[in-house]
Amino acid sequence: MSAPHTTSQTDVRLGRIVRLLMDHATVIVSGTKIASEIGTSRSEVWRLIQQLRELGVEIGGHPSTGYSLKSVPDLLLPDLLSPLIAGTIFSKSIHHYYKVGSTNTVAMQAAADGVPEGSVFVAEQQTAGRGRGAHQWDSARSAGIYCSVVLRPNLPPSEVLILALAAGLAVHAAVKDVDPGLNPDLKWPNDVLIEGKKFCGILAEMTAEPTRVRHVVVGIGINVNQASFPSELQSVATSLKMVSGTEYSRLQLCAALLKSLDREYRNLQSERRDSIVERFVERSSTVRGRRVRVDENGGYQGTTEGLDSRGFLQVRTADGLRVVLSATVRPE
Ligand code: BTN
Repeated sequence: MSAPHTTSQTDVRLGRIVRLLMDHATVIVSGTKIASEIGTSRSEVWRLIQQLRELGVEIGGHPSTGYSLKSVPDLLLPDLLSPLIAGTIFSKSIHHYYKVGSTNTVAMQAAADGVPEGSVFVAEQQTAGRGRGAHQWDSARSAGIYCSVVLRPNLPPSEVLILALAAGLAVHAAVKDVDPGLNPDLKWPNDVLIEGKKFCGILAEMTAEPTRVRHVVVGIGINVNQASFPSELQSVATSLKMVSGTEYSRLQLCAALLKSLDREYRNLQSERRDSIVERFVERSSTVRGRRVRVDENGGYQGTTEGLDSRGFLQVRTADGLRVVLSATVRPE
């Protein structure tokens, strides 16, 4: 049997089978029916069912009796995700991987190859998840959301930061949507924290000409159901489950995220940039009135004084107001 844990895209027939079993949740579906619905043989259906079981999908039955789902699997399969985000720019082209190096890397390549705007790349696990500044993103299997989207905004390269801020707002809204009791805090420019620890990172990468962006990949990593982290991350990282004790549906959260991101992206295209900047400031405890150290131009200290119209952080220093372009900003 060929293992599904490869770096190639997930066989779409796996999602079709899960969808079919979900749509007939109260009955046993015969191998013959599944085979005819997905256009393959009964023996191939058996092989695919075995692959799904290997991936942790609980399916009862065998070839002679037919199959039934024992529980709804929390996998980010296109056939499960797409109906939940119908009407958004993200519903039409969803690419799923059980295991991939980095969803940002495959999305950047696909964007260069011309995939449509709104294409989504999601993985159950990343083996080389990337963060900013050459950091790695810990991407344990089926514990978090590892998702990258391809956008083709009409923006000059100098204004792309606003997209990362919009993505932060989308994460904030999605988390509130699945659990209003959680209180995410946006940390400029790319992180989202809860109780002072990071549970989400955003990595926006672009290919651009001097005055025009060709495409941007916005990669979002969310720690959802992790129960622990490697020792070197324990003091800085958390997951939603570690904060609330609740196990969340990654599927519901991912759908909420893509719906919010769609809304924010439309805001941006209709020139409602001020609203993005204003709401980011409202949802961040650190972009105003916080003493910080900025690792830029030899390093300097000051007090945060909000964001400028493009979303750059302003810091009041002894020598006047400075605008932070891309440096790391730490509490002093
Ligand atoms: C950071 O905090 O430095 C950014 C982390 C971004 C992680 C996400 S997970 C999905 C996408 N694929 C990657 O390799 N990175 C981003």
